[in-house]
Amino acid sequence: MSNFDHEAVLSVHHWTDTLFSFRTTRSRSLRFINGQFTMIGLEVEGRPLVRAYSMVSPNHDEQLEFFSIKVQNGPLTSRLQHLKVGDTILVGRKPTGTLIHDNLLPGRHLYLLGTGTGLAPFMSIIRDPATYERFEKVVLVHGCRTVSELAYEDLITRDLPEDEFLGPAVQEKLIYYPTVTREAFRNTGRITDLMASGKLYADLGLPPLDIESDRVMMCGSPAMLKDVRGLLDAQGFREGSMSEPGHFVIEKAFVEK
Ligand code: A2P
Repeated sequence: MSNFDHEAVLSVHHWTDTLFSFRTTRSRSLRFINGQFTMIGLEVEGRPLVRAYSMVSPNHDEQLEFFSIKVQNGPLTSRLQHLKVGDTILVGRKPTGTLIHDNLLPGRHLYLLGTGTGLAPFMSIIRDPATYERFEKVVLVHGCRTVSELAYEDLITRDLPEDEFLGPAVQEKLIYYPTVTREAFRNTGRITDLMASGKLYADLGLPPLDIESDRVMMCGSPAMLKDVRGLLDAQGFREGSMSEPGHFVIEKAFVEK
């Protein structure tokens, strides 16, 4: 277990039957870049049972927060969904991941495209002051099946604009675009369809996606990533990495947990 810190669960919030989030203590030695993930989980029969989870909380937060689905037969989430305040959780000491600013070339607009729990890494990125220093507009698109799955909406639309430090930048630069696919809502349709039709840009009042000015981070199911990537590839966008920053970066939101 030496690769893991033992942290205490401080609170648990159940968003829906299938989504929940929880906050934990944070070791002073844990360092991460906003947008990264680490392995977290439980000790089961003396062994770590862990999966990759993005940090929802920004790296200036003294606590950690994670956002999870509940899979009834999932080895980890079938247990994790019963977490209670005071329980112990394992948190990996080596955060990593590709959804970081340094993997992207400079640009004007940053698109953060997430489906389901793929919102998680963007919750830390939209609370990172560097995000607003680097971009003129930051567009957070969250695609879900139902309105009830649009977690963190209040934090994004009410709390963040009022934040003592980030509020002014958020008010000026952050655009939140939630969209729902399986019931009526003010925005409906898959992120990919909204991009392909141009409706997304028209609704945002921004020009269509452009390789000179626009950068994209995406996090979702393998199918979503493949389809968004297809749209970007068709426009000549190149994936970025540590060794060579590019126009977009990708992270899988793990679904089989
Ligand atoms: P849909 O309802 O049309 O499947 P899931 O819970 O299955 O991960 O889906 C989360 C959201 O992502 C849903 O709104 C879903 O739309 C959407 N989605 C699923 N597959 C894709 C895809 N290939 N491209 C874009 N959005 C997708």
